Amino acid sequence: VRIVVDGLAYPIVISTEAAAETARMLAACAGRVCIVADAAVRDRAETLRAHLLDKKFDVAGLFAVRAGERFKRWPSVAQLHRHFIEAAVDRDGVVVAMGGGSLTDAAGFAAATYLRGVRWLAIATTLTGMVDAAIGGKTGVNLPQGKNLIGAIWQPIGVVADVLALKTLPASAVRDGVAEMVKTAVVGDPGLLQRLQEVRVEDGPAAWAPLIAAAAQVKAGVVARDPDDRDVRAVLNLGHTFAHALERATSYRTSHGSAVALGLRGCGILARDRTGFPHEEHRAVVETLARFGLRLRLGRVRVPSVLEAMRLDKKRRRGTSRFVLPVRLGEVKTDVEVSDDEVVLTLTQLRARPGRRGW
Ligand SMILES: NC(=O)c1ccc[n+]([C@@H]2O[C@H](COP(=O)([O-])OP(=O)(O)OC[C@H]3O[C@@H](n4cnc5c(N)ncnc54)[C@H](O)[C@@H]3O)[C@@H](O)[C@H]2O)c1
Ligand SMILES: [Zn+2]
Repeated sequence: VRIVVDGLAYPIVISTEAAAETARMLAACAGRVCIVADAAVRDRAETLRAHLLDKKFDVAGLFAVRAGERFKRWPSVAQLHRHFIEAAVDRDGVVVAMGGGSLTDAAGFAAATYLRGVRWLAIATTLTGMVDAAIGGKTGVNLPQGKNLIGAIWQPIGVVADVLALKTLPASAVRDGVAEMVKTAVVGDPGLLQRLQEVRVEDGPAAWAPLIAAAAQVKAGVVARDPDDRDVRAVLNLGHTFAHALERATSYRTSHGSAVALGLRGCGILARDRTGFPHEEHRAVVETLARFGLRLRLGRVRVPSVLEAMRLDKKRRRGTSRFVLPVRLGEVKTDVEVSDDEVVLTLTQLRARPGRRGW
């Protein structure tokens, strides 16, 4: 399997030969290669290292870390910088970051800030990484005050989606990735929504790779139009105003993907009156999410807590929140002002099961 997604200044390749693909992308770099990998994919990183050594690259070793959201913190960046110095990575060096979004976000940021910026390459090993996090150059870490508060936009020289890594990915992480893929489909590729209804979690890379490529294509297209995240990139926040509030209100016990799934349903409900989003399209979204086991009903969290969390949203103005809402599949509207009353009404509707007629 090898699918190339273009549209950006660097290649995005979905491949079953991640090591060979990485070597190809690094061919133009003469400098030292420093691999930073999530320990969850250590075997794959060892294989990559052996392959690069075989191809006569100057590999400075393999730095394996326990990634995950808790790794995405400032001390980890300092630790990576220390490692780069010990490995004598200079301005010609390249950081190869292999893992999920937490690893590529933090290692990409370490590359962006080391020696005022060295080149880096992302190898995504989670579904979320392949369709979202590794693409677009947003790098960074969290602060106790909030997620992604420190960061830089620093584009990689290439992105490899290591689809064979998906074999070991836990089901919960697959679900999280699917929620983002559904979001992407609503934003820019109705055909992808259809295809997600035909693929199963157990299917292999040959079945998943084209869908990953389709989602990556939409993301790359949006990033190409707004590389610095000033305007149109906001469409990718569909479902995220609800999602971030839900995550915060549950002290991050709700996974991001589950929160996005609920957020997508919530936006569909809001869009019924605000943009005339058709019921059958809303149903297709909800049924696809449900198919992958994503929960679509608001659990025990209290409505006032969600509202309170939404008040912290950066995009709020004068007592209203700003939402991205679907107009129809493949088209969204940004900056829609929604009052707190409407939010409360929607959250109440999210308590009920979505039905054939219901939303
Ligand atoms: N930069 C962006 O544009 C962007 C976009 C979306 C999300 N993100 C960020 O990405 C992160 C979420 O990404 P994620 O879901 O990949 O999370 P993650 O990196 O935390 O990975 C999820 C879990 O899977 C493990 N793992 C990774 N690859 C594996 C594999 N192949 N097999 C088994 N286990 C594996 C990890 O160790 C971790 O425990 C968040 O921090 C989010 O903020 C960034
Ligand atoms: Zn997201």
